[in-house]
Amino acid sequence: MAEVWNPNSWRNKPIRQVPEYTDAAALGAVEARLKSYPPLVFAGEARNLTASLGAVAEGKAFLLQGGDCAESFAEFHPDKIRDTFRVLLQMAVVLTFAGTMPVVKVGRIAGQFAKPRSEDTETIEGVTLPSYRGDNINSIEFDAVGRQPDPQRLMQAYMQSAATLNLLRAFASGGYADLHNVQRWNLGFIAGSPSGERYRALSERISESLAFMEACGVTPDVVPQLRTTDFYTSHEALHLVYEQALTRIDSTSGEWYDTSAHMLWIGDRTRQLDGAHIEFARGIKNPIGLKCGPSLAEDDLLRLIDALNPENKPGRLTLIVRFGSDKAAEKFPRLLRTVTREGKKVVWSCDPMHGNTIKSTTGFKTRPFERVLKECQTFFEVHRAEGTHAGGVHIEMTGQNVTECLGGAQAITDEDLSSRYHTHCDPRLNASQALELAFLIAEGIRDERRGRTSERRAAMA
Ligand code: PEP
Ligand code: CO
Repeated sequence: MAEVWNPNSWRNKPIRQVPEYTDAAALGAVEARLKSYPPLVFAGEARNLTASLGAVAEGKAFLLQGGDCAESFAEFHPDKIRDTFRVLLQMAVVLTFAGTMPVVKVGRIAGQFAKPRSEDTETIEGVTLPSYRGDNINSIEFDAVGRQPDPQRLMQAYMQSAATLNLLRAFASGGYADLHNVQRWNLGFIAGSPSGERYRALSERISESLAFMEACGVTPDVVPQLRTTDFYTSHEALHLVYEQALTRIDSTSGEWYDTSAHMLWIGDRTRQLDGAHIEFARGIKNPIGLKCGPSLAEDDLLRLIDALNPENKPGRLTLIVRFGSDKAAEKFPRLLRTVTREGKKVVWSCDPMHGNTIKSTTGFKTRPFERVLKECQTFFEVHRAEGTHAGGVHIEMTGQNVTECLGGAQAITDEDLSSRYHTHCDPRLNASQALELAFLIAEGIRDERRGRTSERRAAMA
């Protein structure tokens, strides 16, 4: 991989999961326009995220990454953005309080459109059409015109990402995320759930602590971080035509950044060492995620790490493991030991969603919440056994009261799935399930800290 990189060099490599546009001139025109449009994020922000993830890699912080499986044009609404943001804030509060360590918040949002598919085509009642690949490519409706990839959709995805990011920035710094609002984030249908109730109790304690601190002079004027939060965006770097169009040289460092999001990740289906997606990702300086599924061998992972993070910089690379609750206990320790033994500095994050997708008896793609919990638990247990840091989680969730994943405190059943099943791709945790998961993860973080404290004490004795 010593070859020279440029934003175009991925085009010389074998590529998977690409849509076939029929009108090359129309696609070219859209690319040219996107290249002339403003960046969505600044390089400096991406560098700040790398630094924060560096703290995660060193065991000093925790990464919370979550959002839709696929954003959609139809579901684009300020309330949806607010509700996703709010649940992520709630989860972050639970985790910060439990772990007494900073939580790095990264949304799967403001650009998470393109989807890898297991089949190129879909057949319904004898009619075969191209598979749906995300709203930035074609339409989810099963009709011959809508399923043709349409370059104009890339413009709409860019505009939606820009507007979403604008609102997120306002929420993060304009007062909504002020820690004094901690009790108000517990609105809507979660308030009455058991985890909502737990959250209420916790937020009361936080409010009391804030009042105490203010009495001691620790006010938002002195500590502005109480009023604002850092919130970052991420998506899968799948549609490289779009990613390339937003890849720019940063004038301060002279380095290339993909300005479509702060963090980009490579999916489990497009992580071939000599493939186009790894080629693209190795040259941009944003923090990179790599999905690691059950088929990834230890030596292949080491080669991928060397390609993506040759300088072994902490925070540059996040390994997002997604084995499935039944395979994690067998597959994960081997990867973890190999990477640790080789001294590679990475963030380990657990995606408990993508290895746990099943078909319900009622015909829906779903995920049993108990398997999601189990994979997270295994992730923490394996790290405890190896003495390494369980760095983060990566989840598909929404702030809405959807019925897409089975179980949880609301005990969603196979029959319930049809009532509010809205996802454009994979089933998401609803707000109540997401908060429930946060409490479980909080226990994992607490155990890790307790373990470290008792090891320190033992070493001193
Ligand atoms: C995803 O995160 O939506 C996804 C497709 O994941 P994976 O690449 O891990 O299958
Ligand atoms: Co998904």
